[in-house]
Amino acid sequence: MRTLIAGNWKMHGLQAQIGEIAAMARANAGGPSDVEVLVCVPATLIAHAVQAADGVIQIGGEDCSAEEAGPFTGDIDAQMLRDAGATSVILGHSERRQGHHETDATVAAKVKAAWRHGLATIVCIGETQAQRHDGNALKVCGDQLAASLPDIPAGACTSVAYEPLWAIGSGTMPTREQIIGVLGHLRAALDERFGSTSQSIRILYGGSVKSENALEILDTPDVNGVLIGGASLLAHDFNAIVDVA
Ligand code: G3P
Repeated sequence: MRTLIAGNWKMHGLQAQIGEIAAMARANAGGPSDVEVLVCVPATLIAHAVQAADGVIQIGGEDCSAEEAGPFTGDIDAQMLRDAGATSVILGHSERRQGHHETDATVAAKVKAAWRHGLATIVCIGETQAQRHDGNALKVCGDQLAASLPDIPAGACTSVAYEPLWAIGSGTMPTREQIIGVLGHLRAALDERFGSTSQSIRILYGGSVKSENALEILDTPDVNGVLIGGASLLAHDFNAIVDVA
């Protein structure tokens, strides 16, 4: 399984920033084939980013509708992302779950829609600070995984991103033992549910990943890649993380 280094630009980026994608692509041209590089950008930038990426890095979306084309003003469906050149989509990010009231069932429906149109998915899960404090981190993450990730049809491709909410954008990292604890639990659940198919599902860690801590995170058992927010906005920072992978 190839290591996935994925960026999430969130609600950042104008056409003026597309040069960052071009700089990421230049730095990765001829890079190691055991590392896959993906940058997920706002829908308005996907087509521009695909052009700048020049086939060297992949471009993804950050959300999609669970619906097919229809009367859903303001929504963007999976086919539209694909049409713009996206290969992947992030679904169930905590900022969608909290800010847009997305439930596990909503996320699962979106995942199915993405798969119908050939998009790889990154399904995000993670506990709040209070849930960890109460000793419920494993249960919360296990339950989210079970309910957000549908049964996987042949040919569908997914990663799972563990993003503890208290680590996102905070500069606070879980300990290595905490990451090992959750990821081991998730991997065991995937093995039990999907059998050998589990081996094609990457588990990513996300939350305050920087070039300074990337090596240690990527060296942690069961970590198959990282999902990076703030440090994916500038090619200088992002490339430094890809370099250590
Ligand atoms: O999806 C990635 C994100 O939630 C982590 O953000 O800024 O802590 O790397 P950041």
